[in-house]
Amino acid sequence: MSRLICGLLLLSAVTCAVASCTGHSESNNEPVAPVAKPPSWDDQSDNLWPYRSQFKAHMRHLWLDANRLVSAGRGDARPTFNEIYASAADISRRAGLMHGFWKGIADHAQMLQMAMEDDDRPGATEEMRELGLSCDGCHMATWSPAYLHVTLHTIDAWKANQIKLGMEMETDKEPPPEIPNRVVMQSMWKQFQAAETALKAWNKPEALRQVEQISGMAKTRAELWRTVQQNADALVELARAERKQGLSEAYTNMTAACRTCHSAFAGPERPVHNPMPWDGPTK
Ligand code: HEC
Ligand code: HEC
Repeated sequence: MSRLICGLLLLSAVTCAVASCTGHSESNNEPVAPVAKPPSWDDQSDNLWPYRSQFKAHMRHLWLDANRLVSAGRGDARPTFNEIYASAADISRRAGLMHGFWKGIADHAQMLQMAMEDDDRPGATEEMRELGLSCDGCHMATWSPAYLHVTLHTIDAWKANQIKLGMEMETDKEPPPEIPNRVVMQSMWKQFQAAETALKAWNKPEALRQVEQISGMAKTRAELWRTVQQNADALVELARAERKQGLSEAYTNMTAACRTCHSAFAGPERPVHNPMPWDGPTK
């Protein structure tokens, strides 16, 4: 499975577009233009979901949850504690998922380092593989299906019981804009490949140098998600105890981590709405 990341990444629509591969067009299966107003609140005609980022969907849920927390808790009225409980618990689960992937990367980087110190080549190779699987894990959970090579073409093939991951067919003709997060990802990918090459040659200092860079980023991200999760858990506990005091503080600490990460990695390309402040001005 350590090949999966290479498979996913090397042949990914994005990377492919960047490397300007000449793919066949999808013109015989153009996606239907989205309608301005959905026919209902559960749009049964939405067939464009394979082109939607699961990462953004995930973020939007965090935002909704955060604003629900403020709506339920702000002001002099008695907070709606069940609402606070449900929203904070959702944030905790989602932040926990993200934290787990980054922590997995940092932990395997550490074990990799230990294996190298022990001159344990098979052990080091195994840890490198596990590290890559943590990258893949998050990509499976957050990339758009199309980046994961599941486009309308693939879906048609699967419905006809054909095995198809038509990577050669699928090129993103309009690759997404460069955002700091994607730049980080591309450099981690380079570091990952360089570390693998160095490990094969048992060039320990070089492998270590590359892995430390990956691990540094993983620790930074893991810490941010841990802060989000810990404060969401504090909100859950306060809601359980039906205590109002402390809500504002936990919420503010939690959303500070959203903001910190956004200012470092979200970029100005598209508006990223930060959650409402607990007691923000309404004008
Ligand atoms: C917690 C989630 C998460 C983890 C962990 C993660 N990534 Fe990513 N990765 C993403 C997201 C989100 C994108 C952007 C996809 C998009 O733009 O929709 C991405 C994109 C990428 C891309 C494509 C960049 C491009 O050209 O657009 C590469 C390459 C990549 N990641 C490599 C890695 C490597 C290597 C690791 C592990 C060392 C890793 N990622 C760990 C979430 C993650
Ligand atoms: C460790 C990093 C990190 C943390 C923590 C984080 N985000 Fe994000 N968020 C991002 C990145 C990166 C993007 C930009 C994604 C893109 O453009 O592909 C983003 C985008 C968003 C967006 C815009 C989605 C859209 O519609 O395009 C919202 C809303 C959002 N985040 C909400 C939140 C909330 C609320 C929290 C905290 C509870 C949070 N995020 C915590 C990294 C993070």
